[in-house]
Amino acid sequence: MHADIVVLPGDGIGPEVTAAAVEVLRAVGRRYGHAFGFHEHLIGGAAIDATGEPLPAATLEAARRADAVLLGAVGGPKWSDPKAAVRPEQGLLAIRKALGLYANLRPVAPHPAALGASPVKPHLLTGVDLMVVRELTGGIYFGEKTRTATTASDLCEYDVGEIERVVRRACTLARSRRGKLTSVDKANVLETSRLWRETTTRVVAREFPDIQLEHQLVDSMAMHLLSRPREYDVIVTENMFGDILTDEASMLAGSLGLLPSASLGEVARHAGAARDATDGSRSATIGLYEPIHGSAPDIAGRGIANPYAAILSGALLLRHSLGLEDEADCIEKAVSAVLDAGVFTADLAASGRAVSTREATEAVIEQLQLEC
Ligand code: NAI
Ligand code: MG
Repeated sequence: MHADIVVLPGDGIGPEVTAAAVEVLRAVGRRYGHAFGFHEHLIGGAAIDATGEPLPAATLEAARRADAVLLGAVGGPKWSDPKAAVRPEQGLLAIRKALGLYANLRPVAPHPAALGASPVKPHLLTGVDLMVVRELTGGIYFGEKTRTATTASDLCEYDVGEIERVVRRACTLARSRRGKLTSVDKANVLETSRLWRETTTRVVAREFPDIQLEHQLVDSMAMHLLSRPREYDVIVTENMFGDILTDEASMLAGSLGLLPSASLGEVARHAGAARDATDGSRSATIGLYEPIHGSAPDIAGRGIANPYAAILSGALLLRHSLGLEDEADCIEKAVSAVLDAGVFTADLAASGRAVSTREATEAVIEQLQLEC
């Protein structure tokens, strides 16, 4: 397969961890005979410095034409003056919206070797394997805002179509996993949540009768996520609830440096979509892949950042945008094996020797030769 991947390193540790992910993707490409083209563009603070804008038109244009986008992180103290006209984070919101990336997938499966790094008791974490699907382009974050000296409002709006598409995506994922879907809302209070619940119930009954659906109120979900995380498979929820619950869920895994994410839009229909050399089928979807962590300015430039979240984001890219399931599995197995072997960067190494970003990346690449 030939595929064009746009790489947006961004700021802080972004360039260090995306370089690691690209190296691993190149190694997988060599192993399986794929030609991946990598094209670097500017986003965030780096883009502001070079062009004055957090998302230059050339970056968006390249992303639209690509088969997938791999992003590092944006932001940092240099650009965080509250009076600044433009901020790096605007680039991230703008590209998600412009590409229509309405479904944000965050898998959380604590690795046995890293359980000690989580604040949650280890016996609650064994066997946890869940996936949060957060609606990413609607709801209160995008609703009309008003402000006077003494009042403020943020409008939360959803239409049926916005709910249906993200629920369908979550159901499809549940089908490929353990077949269970937990929909999170606040239907006892909010009208948008009542529409969310009705729509979810209807989509599952009509189109996914094989999926086991349960509804949970967001407040009790916040509690259950920590007290019985093993019970969840796929969790689907609206934008703000998902924002909060995914940060909470990240604590199950122990380090921010272990968690990848995928932000997906519609199935690719553009002319440049990657084609499988054997059957000519199109790539599965347009997507943007990034670690869930930020630019970590406190450790940037020192070569000690954990690259696993970015490398695992590369695995999600292969799976969801290019349909390369075996290749994605291969990366995931390699990362799992190096964690088993105790190849820990400083964020994971409670005591003992911590490896550098480069050593961790090389260990994964070496392991690939054994796993695939
Ligand atoms: P952060 O995620 O950058 O860092 C939080 C803590 O985790 C720091 O101590 C950092 O050193 C550590 N950490 C994060 N990733 C790590 C890795 N891969 N390996 C080892 N340690 C790691 O969050 P923070 O400090 O709140 O934000 C820093 C900047 O990043 C801000 O400008 C923020 O706006 C931006 N940010 C960007 C995001 C994105 O681009 N998607 C997401 C979150 C924050
Ligand atoms: Mg957040």
